[in-house]
Amino acid sequence: MSRKTILLLPGDGIGPEIIAEARKILNWVSGQGRISLYLEEGLIGGAAYDRTGHPLPEETLIQARQADAVLLGAVGGPKWEPLPYEVRPERGLLGIRKALDLFCNLRPAKVFPQLVDASTLKREVVEGTDIMVVRELSSGIYFGEPRGVETLANGEQRGVNTLVYTTREIERIARSAFRIAATRQKKLCSVDKANVLESTELWRAVVMAVGKEFPDVALSHMYVDNAAMQLIRHPRQFDVIVTTNMFGDILSDEASMLTGSIGMLPSASLGERYALYEPIHGSAPDIAGQGVANPLATILSVAMMFRHSLDLPEMANRIEAAVNRVLDQGLRTPDIFQPGTQKVGTVAMGDAVLAALS
Ligand code: IPM
Ligand code: MG
Repeated sequence: MSRKTILLLPGDGIGPEIIAEARKILNWVSGQGRISLYLEEGLIGGAAYDRTGHPLPEETLIQARQADAVLLGAVGGPKWEPLPYEVRPERGLLGIRKALDLFCNLRPAKVFPQLVDASTLKREVVEGTDIMVVRELSSGIYFGEPRGVETLANGEQRGVNTLVYTTREIERIARSAFRIAATRQKKLCSVDKANVLESTELWRAVVMAVGKEFPDVALSHMYVDNAAMQLIRHPRQFDVIVTTNMFGDILSDEASMLTGSIGMLPSASLGERYALYEPIHGSAPDIAGQGVANPLATILSVAMMFRHSLDLPEMANRIEAAVNRVLDQGLRTPDIFQPGTQKVGTVAMGDAVLAALS
């Protein structure tokens, strides 16, 4: 039986509550006799800052590099907003993505039929939506140099960030996206702003060149402003979207609303050696500690972990089926609640998934 180590990084806000539910699922899988999971816990974000003075302690990186996969809750909160930029909780998240070279971020936006009416968009628009957003995660404007805020001679301030991509960086994310598209509807839409930004003109050219290796995948290109519009106008036109770090950040939040709640969307951040899984939502400080957060995005992230890191796709399918069953039973956390369904909290939702699995 294979033995794997999973590093849990609960982080801040609702992070600890949703990770606690994911832990139940991992323990259940471990008890099934297919794989033995050793669960470790580490510090990141504001929680790490409070204990160590840094949002990404060296110890966490060591643990992450030794683990077979990392599961992260969320980072950030108003408490840490006054801190200098270098030690904000978000720096911990960006730091671990960079340090582990997690360049490929998969953010599936799939509409569960049971939640179609939970979307703020019309049923006929969102029904059947199944999009995979492939976001470049380790470069682009998030990491480009020069960056910072400087004071000019006249006393005025000047803020700078740099959108930079190299050929190699574009090639590897494009290749990942084409491979994923090849396993789905074989449609890839690359989103850029090539009409204005030279770096994304290069992006488009490199994606087209990589496309020659994948003749079976239909490649199209879209400017980001149009993509933002098309996503809510006619989301079913998309299969796989590949885009830059910041455009992917924005479009994946937008795509999540097609599914009814950002509380439903998992993600996988993959590199050549390491992998990290996290819900795409944030730490939701407004509801933290109340036991009402939706744990399903985190549980679905665990499913992605079994598929992409632990080589147990059938376990991923089982977890996803269990989530489906719980939705069929009408159980809803407040973010996806609608009249006629049954409102439950975080723990009850986690327990229901567990029951559906067993
Ligand atoms: C995300 C988040 C992060 C990002 C923040 C918390 C730094 O919005 O994972 O989408 O911008 O990447
Ligand atoms: Mg985001």
